[in-house]
Amino acid sequence: MSRNVVITGANRGLGLEFVKQYLKDGWKVFACSRSPETSEELLKLKQVAGEQLETIPLDVTKPTHITNLKYTLMGNSIDLLINNAGIYGERLPYGEVRADEWMKVLEVNTVAPMMVVQELSELIVDNGKIILMSSKMGSVADNTSGGSYIYRSSKAALNAVGKSLSHDLAGRSISVAVCHPGWVQTDMGGPNGLIDTVTSITGLRKVIENLDMGRSGQFFNYDGAVIPW
Ligand SMILES: NC(=O)c1ccc[n+]([C@@H]2O[C@H](COP(=O)([O-])OP(=O)(O)OC[C@H]3O[C@@H](n4cnc5c(N)ncnc54)[C@H](OP(=O)(O)O)[C@@H]3O)[C@@H](O)[C@H]2O)c1
Repeated sequence: MSRNVVITGANRGLGLEFVKQYLKDGWKVFACSRSPETSEELLKLKQVAGEQLETIPLDVTKPTHITNLKYTLMGNSIDLLINNAGIYGERLPYGEVRADEWMKVLEVNTVAPMMVVQELSELIVDNGKIILMSSKMGSVADNTSGGSYIYRSSKAALNAVGKSLSHDLAGRSISVAVCHPGWVQTDMGGPNGLIDTVTSITGLRKVIENLDMGRSGQFFNYDGAVIPW
């Protein structure tokens, strides 16, 4: 029987590559993005995939969108939920950090994934999996260069969310992983990224496949290595 995956921020970058690879692997893919009707890549994939791919409008910061997502998914079970949507925010150095920009990034990167998980919780199967796309930049142990206050703190807080979820959902045997995709050539990662989306997502799919209750609540690199908090 085919498995169901829900992916946020699915119209470009890493989210889109997740969509491509899970389709190829035979999964039913629910691809969420802010404007699926104008996403050429998703529309092209839909022409070939047909009912195997459903596109759903979702701005992760809009509570009504998240509720609509739940009603759209009603009747389907979720085997895997990938909270991928994220932003870097303006690059503001020490002395120029602004609260309004910080709140915007926290809303997308930290608060929204939790709201999505809570709303979809009842649709996630027991033994299901939840992935939070974080970043090594959220690792306090790895912070040897400073700066990036906004992005770093948003992902460090997301890591804390992931850890708590792993405890709170353990009773349902839902495993949770916080993942770093590598420095990847996407709009966010830029052209100097060290790896392409295919390499990153091929690695992350292995991490997800190997995820179980024994490994739940950890911070994984795309190659499977555990990253210190
Ligand atoms: N690339 C890297 O090197 C790297 C490294 C570490 C971690 N990450 C993380 O990996 C994830 C994906 O990154 P990426 O490189 O693929 O970035 P990207 O190319 O900039 O794509 C970001 C995706 O998030 C979506 N998004 C942003 N705000 C949203 C919102 N409010 N509601 C719904 N969707 C929203 C975007 O949709 P629109 O097209 O509508 O804007 C887009 O689909 C992010 O969480 C990022 O922090 C990336």
